[in-house]
Amino acid sequence: MGKTEEIRDRLIKEIEGAADVAALEALRVKALGKKGQVTALLKTLGDLSVDQRRRTGPKINALKEAVTNAIQERQAALEIEALASRLLEERVDVTLPSRPRPRGRIHPISQVTDEISEIFADLGFSVAEGSDIEDDFHNFTALNIPPEHPARQMHDTFYLSPDEAGQRKLLRTHTSPVQIRTMRSQKPPIRIIVPGRTYRSDSDATHTPMFHQLEGLVIDQETHMGHLKGCLEDFVRAFFEIDEIKMRFRPSYFPFTEPSAELDIGCSFEDGQLKIGGDQDWLEILGCGMVHRRVLEMCDLDPERYQGFAFGCGIDRLAMLKYGMTDLRAFFDSDLRWLRHYGFLPLDIPTLAGGLSR
Ligand code: PHE
Repeated sequence: MGKTEEIRDRLIKEIEGAADVAALEALRVKALGKKGQVTALLKTLGDLSVDQRRRTGPKINALKEAVTNAIQERQAALEIEALASRLLEERVDVTLPSRPRPRGRIHPISQVTDEISEIFADLGFSVAEGSDIEDDFHNFTALNIPPEHPARQMHDTFYLSPDEAGQRKLLRTHTSPVQIRTMRSQKPPIRIIVPGRTYRSDSDATHTPMFHQLEGLVIDQETHMGHLKGCLEDFVRAFFEIDEIKMRFRPSYFPFTEPSAELDIGCSFEDGQLKIGGDQDWLEILGCGMVHRRVLEMCDLDPERYQGFAFGCGIDRLAMLKYGMTDLRAFFDSDLRWLRHYGFLPLDIPTLAGGLSR
């Protein structure tokens, strides 16, 4: 075997064994670069006689071609290998679920608040909020409950320490102060609901020191008891998701409404279990009435021009009745077993069209 064949065989063997693109490039430089072996051989041609050149020239050129081809082939093979290993590495299991299922649950209070907001949004109400810490004026006086009024005793109020001016702030005992704040800051027509936290010093199976209320307020120029009744009847049917439900408005008393009423809904008992609907008994679910003219006056609204109605109910109580929980205290225990059982799936957002609860 001649010298060129020897070089060719060795180079081609090395090229075929190149492990990656970088190694192959090093071999290319070693053979065909400026100082490469094949290049060096080509350079020797100039010093040869015409005769020798005619014999050796084709051999060296053939060597160059063979090496170049080998490099190209190896290059192509390496590229295919690289692609294959990348595909293997980046392999995606398209049968895996796209997103892990959420494990948290929506608390029944949040769920019921969303359900109620959805129903009243459909009736043209917007959501208003107030602060948990209130002053005496907004929580009592402006609601026609002056300091000596006996209704104050019914509220078991939590008071904060007096400030420098000797004023004692309090934790709001109901969401009604937001009625006052809204009437004093907005022009009628007003149509709001106010879900929020409320506080009273009370604790047993159906009372906790912190609980949730929903207030409603409508102020306009021609509002009457008929509107109040219709609105609340629509709400009750939508909320309990029962069309046939008995309701009665029973005369009652609140200092800030006149006339005042309480709304009862019919219920029955099946195997000792309470069921909403039916006519065995009545359940009281909310207080309501036409806004008292003195309340309107305290909010600088002319009672000859404007009237309206208001209502208030316990969100926790509505949740207990609708979803059959018997002890309110469990709502605030953060017991994961309870939350898993009574909680709602985060992606099932209540809508009137899609169903409030599923
Ligand atoms: N604020 C009253 C309560 O806490 C409920 C209520 C609100 C009654 C609005 C009538 C009108 O008991």
